[in-house]
Amino acid sequence: MKGLIDGILHRTQAEYLERLMPPRTGALASLERLAARDRVPIVDPEVGRFLEQTCLAANARRVLEVGTAIGYSTVHLARGVGEGGRVLSIDVDPQRQATARAYLAEERLEARVEFVLAPGLEAIPRIAGPLDLLFLDAIKEEYRGYLDLALPKLRIGGIVVCDNLLWSGQVAGEVLREDERSSTLALREFNPYFTNHPQLLAQVLSFGDGVGFAVKVRG
Ligand SMILES: C[S@@+](CC[C@H](N)C(=O)[O-])C[C@H]1O[C@@H](n2cnc3c(N)ncnc32)[C@H](O)[C@@H]1O
Repeated sequence: MKGLIDGILHRTQAEYLERLMPPRTGALASLERLAARDRVPIVDPEVGRFLEQTCLAANARRVLEVGTAIGYSTVHLARGVGEGGRVLSIDVDPQRQATARAYLAEERLEARVEFVLAPGLEAIPRIAGPLDLLFLDAIKEEYRGYLDLALPKLRIGGIVVCDNLLWSGQVAGEVLREDERSSTLALREFNPYFTNHPQLLAQVLSFGDGVGFAVKVRG
């Protein structure tokens, strides 16, 4: 019974919070439509806004994103790093990155983004630090690998954000989609690794699809 009540309350609150979000305009609105039409997974609008806020609050100037897709989160990060800032954004899909490039140009943000077309685990070792913020949003089975490779390049006080750590409720609950069993099991292993990492002060925030948030506190 309590679970049911919690569930109903939760949905009511989620819908309320959604209504509070200012409507997106320009490239972000177009990207949300495109993602829905072509079923491209992108961060929730509140997560996009959170990325931009976090870059601004942390004065992040050099950001690494693993998983560009069509550039929805990249637009937020590029806004957040400000004039002269740099977002290095990795993806393996050339078509999606071409779309991202076009939308970044539409927002006059292309000078702030360097697109890297390669698998994350191959590309990260070639990326020079220091980084101010790391955003993980590609293959869930590889999150630990991305973190292990990128963390030495993150400055002390730098921030890690990871999307999808609750994976539609499957990480804490039952596997609902057989095609997401492997990613769900990987996230079940990743989450405690992340929240107990000796170099990080980390937790999982329960908004969007579950957002990992950490500050690097030790080298
Ligand atoms: C969830 S989407 C990223 C969404 C994007 N961050 C956003 O919110 O707008 C994940 C992306 O990871 C990319 N991807 C898949 N395998 C990858 C790999 N090995 N390295 C880097 N990116 C990869 C996919 O092509 C896909 O576009």
